[in-house]
Amino acid sequence: MIDTDPGIDDALAILLALASPEVDLRLVTTTHGNVELAQTTDNALRVLHLAGRSDVPVAAGAAESLVYPQPERAGHVHGQTGLGGAQLAPSPAAVDPRPAVVALAELLLASEEPVTVAAIGPWTNVALLLATYPQAAARIDRLVLMGGSASRGGNVTAAAEFNVWADPEAAARVLGSAVPTVLVGLDVTVPTVLGEDGIARFAAAGPVGATAAAILQQYVDHARSSYGTTGVVVHDALALTEAIVPGTLGTVRRDVVVDTTRGAGRGQTLVDRRAVSDSPTAVDVAETVDSAAAVEFLVSRLAGLAAR
Ligand code: BDR
Ligand code: CA
Repeated sequence: MIDTDPGIDDALAILLALASPEVDLRLVTTTHGNVELAQTTDNALRVLHLAGRSDVPVAAGAAESLVYPQPERAGHVHGQTGLGGAQLAPSPAAVDPRPAVVALAELLLASEEPVTVAAIGPWTNVALLLATYPQAAARIDRLVLMGGSASRGGNVTAAAEFNVWADPEAAARVLGSAVPTVLVGLDVTVPTVLGEDGIARFAAAGPVGATAAAILQQYVDHARSSYGTTGVVVHDALALTEAIVPGTLGTVRRDVVVDTTRGAGRGQTLVDRRAVSDSPTAVDVAETVDSAAAVEFLVSRLAGLAAR
C-alpha cells in the first residue's frame, strides 16, 4: 500500500512500484501535502492510468493536518497541478468511496500476506489509522516512511523536512508507535541524485518513461534555479526502493521524537544518535545509502516499465 501526495517524486515512486515484480500494489491512499487533497487524488489516479493500472483502488484521506493547518503547499516545487507541467490523461476509474483509513484498515485486516505500507506524504492518514483502527495498524508488517532528517537539518525550514513539517502532531503519533518502522529521511535522500543522463535513459525507453521525464522537468528546473544543481532528488522513490528491497539502506535503531512546539524547531525529528535503542517504539533510521546503486535501480526499473 502506498499513502501519497503526488507530487513529482511521489509519481516516480508509484511508477517504480508498478515497475517492480516484487510488488503487488493493492491500494493507494492520498493525503494533503504537496498540493490540495482533490488534486493529489486525481494525480494518483492519472499516474496509475498512465502505467495501465487503473485497477488499483485509490481512496482519498485527510484533507488537512491533525491540529494546525499545513502552513502552505509546495506548488512552487511540484507545479500548480503537483505533476510539474506534464499533461497526463484523466483516468477512467473513480475514486474508491471509502475514506482512506477505512480502506487501509479493511485491507490490513483481510490480508493473509504481510503488508508493507509506504507513506510518502505527510503522515496524517497513518496517524488516523493508528488512532481509529489500532488492531489493523498492528498488522502492518513494515511501515516505510519518507520524512525527517537526523543530521542534515530541514528542507522547508532550517529544522524541518516537508512531510513532518506538514503535520508534526501526526508524525509524533506515528514515530511514537510500536509498528515496525523504517525512516527514510534527508540523510539518505539528498545525496541520492538522479542525473539528467538517467532521466534521458527512461525517457527514451517508451511513452511511460517520456511522461515520467516530463513530470520531472519542473523538479529539474527548480533544482537548477534554486540550488544551481543539475540532477534531482527523488526522495519518495528512494523510500519505495527500501520498501521493495528491504536492506537497500543501512539502518540503525534509534529513539526519535518530533518537535511539536510552535517555535523555530517545529517539525524537527530529534534522532538520538548517541546509542542504538532497544525500545519497542524505536525506529530503524536510514543512515547510509549506496546512491549510485539506488539511482541505477530506479532508472533501470523505469526504463523496463516504459518499454513494456
Ligand atoms: C518530501 O516532501 C515532498 O515535497 C516530497 O514529495 C517528499 O515526499 C521531501 O521532503
Ligand atoms: Ca511526497
